[in-house]
This record gives sequence, structure tokens and C-alpha cells, in this order.
Amino acid sequence: MTTPSDRVGARAGGWASVAIAILFGLPAAAQTGQPASAYKAPVISDTGKLKGPRQPIFFRHDIHARQDQIPCLYCHSTVTISSEPGIPAVQTCFGCHQMIGGSTPSHQAEIKKVRDAWANRRPPEWIRVHSLPGFVRFPHQRHIKVLGTDGCITCHGDVRQMPQVYQVSTLTMGWCINCHVQRNVPRDCTLCHY
Ligand code: HEC
Ligand code: HEC
Ligand code: HEC
Ligand code: HEC
Ligand code: HEC
Repeated sequence: MTTPSDRVGARAGGWASVAIAILFGLPAAAQTGQPASAYKAPVISDTGKLKGPRQPIFFRHDIHARQDQIPCLYCHSTVTISSEPGIPAVQTCFGCHQMIGGSTPSHQAEIKKVRDAWANRRPPEWIRVHSLPGFVRFPHQRHIKVLGTDGCITCHGDVRQMPQVYQVSTLTMGWCINCHVQRNVPRDCTLCHY
């Protein structure tokens, strides 16, 4: 049995996980202070080599979703009920980053951008990674109902491994139809086209 103070010293950023777990009631794995995976995201010095568009804030899914085990739905909270998964408001970020300032100088510099965005009421303009043409209908919620809330990986690849999100699937009509054929889902043109 470890005491809270043992856990605080367990690893860099450990205190943060404990604080988050207490404040936000995250799942058991996140509450131990040492995630079940005990995964520590690497330091990345050359961000220019990363796949995917460069975002206004270097927000890392490998840190938030893997190292700190924040569930996808904590931030993409409408994915089970709406076509759009939702991108979290700065308020959601600030809920943690009011207290969590970052364990390294580069984290601190990026987190300062979050705090400035909040203070100046100027949300970051995230660059969209996945985008279908306007004449295509894609309801997330219907897919999650069948594939489950862990089913993101089927279409997005393992986002938990990505320091910067990039597109893994082609998102072509053939890609959609292929899975619909395999899973015996209707393929009428009007299912996907307005
Ligand atoms: C702490 C909040 C947070 C968590 C947790 C989180 N995300 Fe995100 N996600 C974001 C933000 C902010 C963006 C927009 C910036 C970016 O693309 O990195 C985003 C972008 C994305 C995108 C790209 C969206 C686009 O523009 O096409 C995908 C896909 C995604 N997240 C999937 C996931 C999955 C899957 C998980 C769980 C394994 C997850 N996210 C967990 C905040 C979060
Ligand atoms: C549930 C709590 C929580 C939420 C919500 C959260 N973060 Fe974080 N964030 C953390 C923790 C913990 C760290 C790791 C701090 C460290 O060790 O430096 C972190 C680190 C960061 C970093 C530095 C590492 C990196 O990813 O490059 C940035 C930037 C960041 N967060 C931005 C954001 C943004 C933007 C949002 C909202 C979309 C957000 N965070 C939401 C907990 C959170
Ligand atoms: C069946 C494939 C599929 C699954 C499963 C799936 N997505 Fe998506 N996702 C897409 C497609 C296609 C788009 C582009 C939609 C568009 O442009 O209208 C997208 C877009 C997104 C976006 C960007 C939305 C925006 O407004 O910027 C996020 C965030 C996202 N997905 C998160 C998730 C999360 C989290 C999960 C799991 C809970 C998930 N997705 C499961 C196919 C999928
Ligand atoms: C990994 C498999 C998979 C992929 C890839 C996929 N789908 Fe689906 N889709 C399904 C399944 C399974 C259902 C049936 C859901 C249900 O039974 O409610 C479905 C249902 C739908 C529906 C019907 C929803 C309704 O209202 O009945 C639409 C529209 C749709 N998909 C569009 C798309 C589009 C557009 C793409 C590509 C961008 C796509 N899907 C890619 C598996 C997939
Ligand atoms: C499961 C979803 C789905 C179904 C069913 C579907 N489409 Fe599509 N369609 C898409 C997606 C996604 C795109 C955009 C990506 C692309 O161009 O490949 C698209 C693009 C198109 C385009 C534009 C192609 C281009 O080069 O710009 C046409 C035309 C089209 N579809 C016609 C049809 C017709 C006709 C049917 C019925 C026989 C049909 N679609 C059924 C998903 C679907």
C-alpha cells in the first residue's frame, strides 16, 4: 500500500495524475497515480518530423489519452449521441491546466498557450484532420453503437500512440462501402448522400 505522498513522488507529473483523479473521478487505472501501463510518453525535440498537420498548441494524445489515461469521451463527449464527436472547449482544458503547469520547460510553454487562450477568450483554431465532403453524411453515434466506445481505433488508428493526430484511413467511398459490405449494412446511395 502506498501513501498519497509516495505516489506523488512516483514519477514526474505523478502529482498531477493524483490531483486529476481526485478532482475528476477518472477510472481506477488513472487513480493509482501510476497508470496500469506505467507508460511514460517520450520527450519529442523535433516536432517537424511528426505526421499530421501542426496544431496551434502542441496537444499530445499520447500524453493525455495514453500516459494519463484520460478517456476519449472525456473530451469527445458527444460521439455516442451525435454525428459530431465534438472538440473540447478551452474551458475543459483549463479545468485541469489551471493547476497543471507542466513538468518540463516545453510542456510549460505549450500549457501557457492554453492559459492565455482562456484568459484572452481566444480559443485555439484547431486544424481539422479528417474531413468528408459536404455531400456525405457520417453519423458517429450509429457507428459507436455497433463498434463500441473503444472502436475509434477501427477508423482512426491508435490515436493513443500519436503525439500529433494524423489520418490513417483513406475515407474514400470505397472504404466506407467495404465495411458496409462486410457487416451487412445497407448501401443505398441516399444512406450516405443527401
Ligand atoms: C484531453 C482531451 C482529449 C482527449 C482525452 C482525447 N482527445 Fe482527441 N482531440 C482533442 C483535441 C483538443 C483535438 C484537436 C487537436 C488535435 O487534432 O490534436 C483532438 C483531435 C482528435 C482527432 C482528430 C480530429 C480531426 O480534426 O479530424 C481524433 C481522431 C481524436 N481526437 C480521437 C481521440 C481518441 C480516439 C481519443 C481516445 C483514445 C481521444 N481523441 C482523446 C482532445 C482530446
Ligand atoms: C483531465 C485533465 C486534463 C485535461 C482535461 C487536459 N489536460 Fe493537458 N495535460 C494534463 C496532464 C496531466 C499533462 C502532463 C503534465 C506534465 O507532466 O507536463 C498535460 C499536458 C499538457 C500539455 C503539455 C504536453 C503536450 O501535450 O504537449 C499541453 C500542451 C496540454 N496538456 C494541453 C491541453 C489542452 C489544449 C487541453 C484541452 C483540449 C488539455 N490539455 C486538457 C491533464 C489534462
Ligand atoms: C466508422 C469509422 C469511425 C469510427 C468508428 C470513429 N470515427 Fe471519428 N471520424 C470518422 C470520419 C469519417 C470522420 C470525418 C467526419 C466528417 O468529416 O464529417 C471522423 C471525424 C472525427 C473527429 C473530428 C470531428 C471534428 O468535428 O473535427 C473526431 C474528434 C473523431 N472523429 C473522434 C472519434 C472518436 C473519439 C471515436 C471513438 C469513440 C471515433 N471518432 C470513431 C470515422 C470514424
Ligand atoms: C468499420 C466499419 C464501417 C466503416 C468504415 C463505415 N461504416 Fe457506416 N456503418 C457501419 C455499421 C456497422 C453501421 C450500422 C449501424 C447500425 O446498425 O445502427 C453503419 C451505418 C451507417 C449509416 C446509417 C446510419 C443510419 O441512420 O441508419 C451511415 C449513413 C453510414 N454508416 C455512413 C458511413 C460513411 C459515410 C462511411 C465512410 C466515411 C462509413 N459509414 C464507414 C460500419 C462502418
Ligand atoms: C457508405 C457510404 C456511401 C454510400 C452507400 C455511397 N457513397 Fe458515394 N461517397 C461516399 C463518400 C465518403 C464519398 C467522398 C469520398 C470519395 O470521393 O471517395 C463519396 C463520393 C461520391 C461521389 C463523388 C465522387 C468524386 O469523385 O467526387 C459520387 C458521385 C458518389 N459518391 C455517388 C454515389 C452513388 C451513385 C451511390 C449509390 C450507388 C453512392 N455514392 C453510395 C460514401 C458513400
